[in-house]
Amino acid sequence: MKVHHHSYDAVIVGAGGAGLRAAIETAGKCRTAVLTKLYPTRSHTGAAQGGMCAALANVEEDSWEWHTFDTVKGGDYLVDQPAAEIMCREAIDAVIELEHFGMPFNRTPEGKIDQRTFGGHTRNHGEASVKRACYSADRTGHMILQTLYQQCVARDVNFFNEYQVLDIAFVEGRVGGVVAYELATGDLHVFTTKAVLFATGGFGKMFKISSNAHTLTGDGPGLLYRRGIPLQDMEFFQFHPTGIYKLGILLSEAARAEGGILRNAEGERFMERYAPTIKDLAPRDMVSRAILTEIGEGRGAGPNKDYVYLDLTHLSPEHIDAKIPDITDFVRTYQGLEPKTDPIPIQPTAHYAMGGIPTNVDAEVVIDAANTVLPGLYAAGECACVSVHGANRLGTNSLLDIVVFGRRGGQAMASYVDTVGHPDPPADIEADVRDRIERLKASSAGENVARIREELQEHMTDKASVFRTEESLASMASDLDALDARYERATIQDKGEVFNYDLTEALELGYLLDLARCLVVAARARTESRGGHFRDDHPLREDEHWMRHSLAYRTDDGVRLDYKPVTPGNYLPMERKY
Ligand code: FUM
Repeated sequence: MKVHHHSYDAVIVGAGGAGLRAAIETAGKCRTAVLTKLYPTRSHTGAAQGGMCAALANVEEDSWEWHTFDTVKGGDYLVDQPAAEIMCREAIDAVIELEHFGMPFNRTPEGKIDQRTFGGHTRNHGEASVKRACYSADRTGHMILQTLYQQCVARDVNFFNEYQVLDIAFVEGRVGGVVAYELATGDLHVFTTKAVLFATGGFGKMFKISSNAHTLTGDGPGLLYRRGIPLQDMEFFQFHPTGIYKLGILLSEAARAEGGILRNAEGERFMERYAPTIKDLAPRDMVSRAILTEIGEGRGAGPNKDYVYLDLTHLSPEHIDAKIPDITDFVRTYQGLEPKTDPIPIQPTAHYAMGGIPTNVDAEVVIDAANTVLPGLYAAGECACVSVHGANRLGTNSLLDIVVFGRRGGQAMASYVDTVGHPDPPADIEADVRDRIERLKASSAGENVARIREELQEHMTDKASVFRTEESLASMASDLDALDARYERATIQDKGEVFNYDLTEALELGYLLDLARCLVVAARARTESRGGHFRDDHPLREDEHWMRHSLAYRTDDGVRLDYKPVTPGNYLPMERKY
């Protein structure tokens, strides 16, 4: 295997919104390389649909303080409130900056950036829904991705496309370098660097029904976990209420913001019973549970009574075409239905990891309950846990998170690299990656990786998704023991060097198994229900004991859990009514 050597001041891993926004900040300030396993504009930010919230008050009265309140309440009070306050305050400038970068937002008749309602976003601390989401039809993420990429190109950012980072080295307690696998050649590349920012996105592919692309396998959190970095709040995973039935493809909450209604088999608008004030626009954890409760109690539709409907049939065809053109096309393409006349079968879909690599508000990675910073290591976007989303993220706050904390991370990294000399990483920095690859290529009689992944996804969906119990989680833990053992003996058929996805998918499955284990261990330990973590056997939120973040560490004996307190702020935990 050929090994190439590079030297940079800063490396950014991932070229979705968070990575690109960080790169805009470091460009021209320090020598930066952006390493991405995808071509940048194929990153998953492009799949985000409905909007990015900021209290611009363009359409109706609003304030960043109300936005902060909604974020904290939506997150079921596990949110670190000073971080949420920063995000919601900086949201306004972040949107204006995107506009100045050329982002094609929808406009009001007077030419201002238009805004629409979105789940959990309210006026005056919960009185009614508020129009806070800035949007580009139902392709807001796609437009942000293109806009940020253009800005990077204009700044001559150095991209290494289709380079998959597989390991990191720390030298004398700080970052020393990363090792990447080049998909086109099978060569290894060692990047010596003072600082690394991970922006690798989520890991929804541990579930069967997911809105996440095939590539969302948690590579960043996965490889850092193996090098001793803890992962925070892994038990909290968000299920988006409206995935296309059986496929999980996202149908944006914008559909409900624009007037769409959820109905059970009897045609009832059931959300009126679960969230009388904001109904279909309640936070996602509540809507997903409501859908599955309807199905569980026999009011699901279809031959197996296992879905409910998203109903757009009462909306004007012109309104649908103007505001939600992409998702209605998905329905035509994947379900063969006409959403203007047919109700759409939907089910909750694994969408977003609230947990991930623990960071402070400057995207610096912190490695213990005392929030000790690991010098030179940064993370931003879905792979990170700041924690602004707590136990449940509000829709549109992820596009906001990536631009606010991508920017902060880029700024912090550019300042940091000026203060330290170049590291001297070990000569055999790539040895571990080389071993993993050679072992997989040398294997012959083992099991197929896809079969193991499929079983992981099926079991996680059955046992560790919207509703959980000690029994289901314990059963999932045993499944993981068996899957881990089978993974050790897995084999790949493609032994080649050029675009060997058989190999990279095998490596990715290792991360998914590790991250699923963290989720299950943290979920078993948390004997309460909060946000996206609902325990049928512990249905109440228990603030006295559980207002704390979990930290999962890898040890030779499995996952070790530690905890740190939630950082409080203005808002005391209340009952979460909508
Ligand atoms: O429903 C949506 O458009 C998704 C948005 C989000 O996850 O923030």
